[in-house]
Amino acid sequence: MLRQTFLTLSNSRELQDVALHNAAARKFALRFVAGETLEQAVQAISALNAKGITATFDHLGENITTPREAKAAANSYLGVLDAIEARRLNSNVSLKLTQMGLDVDEQLCYDNVLRICRRAQEMDNFVRLDMESSAYTDRTLDMFRRLWQEGLHNVGVVLQAYLYRTEADVQEMNRLGARVRLCKGAYNEPPEVAFPKKADVDANYAKLVRLLLTKGAYPGIATHDERLIEYTKRFARKKGIPTSRFEFQMLYGVRRTEQEKLVQEGYNMRVYVPYGKEWYPYFMRRLAERPANVMFIMGNLFKG
Ligand code: FDA
Repeated sequence: MLRQTFLTLSNSRELQDVALHNAAARKFALRFVAGETLEQAVQAISALNAKGITATFDHLGENITTPREAKAAANSYLGVLDAIEARRLNSNVSLKLTQMGLDVDEQLCYDNVLRICRRAQEMDNFVRLDMESSAYTDRTLDMFRRLWQEGLHNVGVVLQAYLYRTEADVQEMNRLGARVRLCKGAYNEPPEVAFPKKADVDANYAKLVRLLLTKGAYPGIATHDERLIEYTKRFARKKGIPTSRFEFQMLYGVRRTEQEKLVQEGYNMRVYVPYGKEWYPYFMRRLAERPANVMFIMGNLFKG
């Protein structure tokens, strides 16, 4: 219920305007966002790299409505790739197709993403297409297939364990040898497309971990769920799958001690590092995931 409310509010332009100008909301958002500038994200990633944690940059932004904004967003990612090279960061990039103009014009979106993927390929780097709501799943996977057929095999997708369709999508990606990030899914989805019960999402997640670990190409196990992390470790050990064949992934600012612990235990750990001025919808999805976050912010959001 609380989750749904926050996910609905994540689409509200009015509340976004209030939040963006509210000092308390901004301060709290900075727990989950590395800062508003590229330099702040570079600093955050340098600090993670120093601890043996790799990263992925996310220049925040989604549902862009003009070709000019989409092109600017794509250019900002070229700047991120330059920064990765110049600062010798151990990081790749994650982007959203609606930020690259998917709702404006599919060809424009493709051209924008192609530029980023080509530049990343020259650098021997990797581009992850984040997954948005189920309204975009087919179009995101179609875009991915187009890039893959173009010979861009340095691109991977995100699949969401809450969707019924995901097992078939995992199998397709495994057949191709494409890299998958597996997450539970962060959007409000109807029962026609997604498991309504958390227990079913978790069970499906475990099933997909098995498929990805045994047949996938360097999957990213993206969860903060202690039980699923332990399950993944146990399953890999039982099947003799070396730790070099997969990585764990978590979000910036969430379970930091656990991130470091996994590295100390010898696992690959990647942290998703968002930055930029468009933090509102991302931040609201993080609030929706954890009631304790909501209680804190409710007390502070509308204060001075
Ligand atoms: P779950 O929500 O069950 O949380 C398990 C435990 O983790 C909680 O009990 C709590 O202790 C801790 N926790 C989880 N979220 C927290 C938070 N926000 N603050 C504090 N503690 C928290 N989704 C999507 O739809 N498309 C995408 O492209 C991505 N990309 C992505 C990348 C990476 C690296 C991660 C880790 C996650 C995503 N997600 C995503 C988000 C994902 O779908 C999901 O919403 C969140 O990861 C929360 O689910 P958990 O698997 O962590 O489990």
